[in-house]
Amino acid sequence: MEGLPFFTFFCSLISSSIFLKFCVASDTITPTQSMVDGETLVSSGQRFELGFFSPENSKNRYLGIWYKSAPHTVVWVANRNNPITDSHGVLTISINGTLVLLNQEGSVVWYSGLSGIAENPVAQLLDSGNFVLRDSLSKCSQSYLWQSFDYPSDTLLAGMKLGRTSNPDLERYLISWKSPDEPSNGDFTWRLDTPRLPQLVVATGSTKKYRTGPWNGIRFSGIPVFPNEQHYSHIMIFDKENAYYMLSFDNYSANTRTTINHSGFIQWLRLDEHNAEWVPLYILPYDPCDNYGQRGANSICRNSRTPI
Ligand SMILES: *[C@@H]1O[C@H](CO)[C@@H](O)[C@H](O)[C@H]1NC(C)=O
Ligand SMILES: *[C@@H]1O[C@H](CO)[C@@H](O)[C@H](O)[C@H]1NC(C)=O
Ligand SMILES: *[C@@H]1O[C@H](CO)[C@@H](O)[C@H](O)[C@H]1NC(C)=O
Repeated sequence: MEGLPFFTFFCSLISSSIFLKFCVASDTITPTQSMVDGETLVSSGQRFELGFFSPENSKNRYLGIWYKSAPHTVVWVANRNNPITDSHGVLTISINGTLVLLNQEGSVVWYSGLSGIAENPVAQLLDSGNFVLRDSLSKCSQSYLWQSFDYPSDTLLAGMKLGRTSNPDLERYLISWKSPDEPSNGDFTWRLDTPRLPQLVVATGSTKKYRTGPWNGIRFSGIPVFPNEQHYSHIMIFDKENAYYMLSFDNYSANTRTTINHSGFIQWLRLDEHNAEWVPLYILPYDPCDNYGQRGANSICRNSRTPI
């Protein structure tokens, strides 16, 4: 922290965009700093980067998080439904302690909620891919004032919850991108449905399309064992207050993510050994049994690859 004032001063002296990239080489911003388009935050272990990006074939600017070393894959977008149309976006911490994204005119394009008051708020990009707002003295996850993991886009990372918690009182679900060029809310949602036994359901509007089959206590009955499953665990918390699904890992470097693509397919993916390609572990829908209500209530769907 000692070197920060000089660093900021240094940045304001050098306006060349080549140098700007190196100015915010840290993983945090504080209320006295802001991050402009061209600068990025990098998580401490170099796994994730946060900054402004344009999707292919688009000039719009979005604030997002992507893998730093894996193939450029955006895992979270702040202003997905409200793009900035030039490269003058600024991310900063407002007087009331929320994260705000401003455009050239200084209008608020996006801002984070807040679940408490921080004396000294800092925003930090963690190695898990979570962008958190916390008090500078507190690192405990219970006391985050806000976290991007609570507001997923189209991607579930290890440690993110899909479903409902009581504190904070939130339902988290994924919404597909409109198209590869357009992160705005697309046609498909992926959420945890809890009629009796929880199951994951893909829907368009109110029409349910695919599902994983109910949770059987260990896994979703319609999803087979993944290769290398010793490295991943499907976790389901289901009690009076909470109902959520989570994928957890023994090891962060075993990179995996789950996304809903813009045609409504759920893909559990793992990064190959060379950090070059995402390899599918499982794709939903896998077979006709995954289609919702295929044979009516209480019917049995038989196939050779997944349990009934
Ligand atoms: C916090 O500040 C932002 C930006 O100035 C504003 O949009 C938002 O309403 C404020 N929130 C609260 C709780 O005052
Ligand atoms: C995590 O995975 C990497 C790469 O597979 C391996 O080199 C490392 O030893 C693992 N660490 C732990 C704690 O298992
Ligand atoms: C979505 O994923 C499925 C399964 O991998 C794939 O067949 C389909 O082409 C993808 N849709 C788009 C629009 O990329």
